[in-house]
Amino acid sequence: MLAPTETGMGDAYVDLIKRSITNYGYLGGDVPFENYRCVIHYELTEAQWKIDPIARPITLLSKKQLDLIEQCVLSIEARGVPGDFIEAGIWRGGVIILMRALLAANNIKARKVFAADSFAGIPKNVRAKGDPVDQWRDRWIAPLDEVKQNIARFGLLDDRIEFVPGFFADTLPHIGDQKFALMRLDSDSYDSVEESLVYLYPLLSPGGIVIIDDWHLIGCKTAVMNYRARHGITDEIKVHDSNAYWIKS
Ligand SMILES: C[S@@+](CC[C@H](N)C(=O)[O-])C[C@H]1O[C@@H](n2cnc3c(N)ncnc32)[C@H](O)[C@@H]1O
Repeated sequence: MLAPTETGMGDAYVDLIKRSITNYGYLGGDVPFENYRCVIHYELTEAQWKIDPIARPITLLSKKQLDLIEQCVLSIEARGVPGDFIEAGIWRGGVIILMRALLAANNIKARKVFAADSFAGIPKNVRAKGDPVDQWRDRWIAPLDEVKQNIARFGLLDDRIEFVPGFFADTLPHIGDQKFALMRLDSDSYDSVEESLVYLYPLLSPGGIVIIDDWHLIGCKTAVMNYRARHGITDEIKVHDSNAYWIKS
């Protein structure tokens, strides 16, 4: 099979990946892809998100949030920021598929993609009290075997994806001598976001980018603001379709 870079179809390939992992072809209806998100709404009475279970999208991200990942990868590549990519909180693995596809589409040979998750869902907070995430019925569980199958169906399961299975508090302190250029933190709760920052942010290269998925969630936002205050981080936060991100100075 020809690599997307060899066909000159890298952009089209990445666009098709975005359409596939969101299941836009099935779920999109009349919504233009630019405005698309597979999550329909939050059901307050049942404390869970509504998505069509039959359609089984493999990411919850919107088109614009996926675009942000691509823009960050291209920026990191153009500026030669050293390090790998990581998502902490991967659910069914859609973002890992996109990150791996971006390596292929842009002929990036020297980087890997790390996939960190419990593969058993979001644990309840222990330190934080009153985080609404603890009321969610859906803990976003996706077992490792299922995630690997999802990635394999795109022909992208190979040794350039490193799995870090287990709860962050147990796994991330032992992730080793890694250096990251892009980290995407998507674990929803105060405790989980705090743990991913404590163990991963020191491994982010200067010039590297951190994306925080859940800027609309109070626990997540508070964990980030507390971490920044404790470490005197003043890099400008930008918000893009309810994801926050900044470049590490
Ligand atoms: C909302 S989902 C992530 C969505 C995903 N990024 C996507 O593309 O749709 C949150 C994920 O974070 C993981 N998670 C949350 N807290 C964790 C923790 N403390 N340790 C490991 N995984 C955790 C859950 O297992 C779940 O897969």
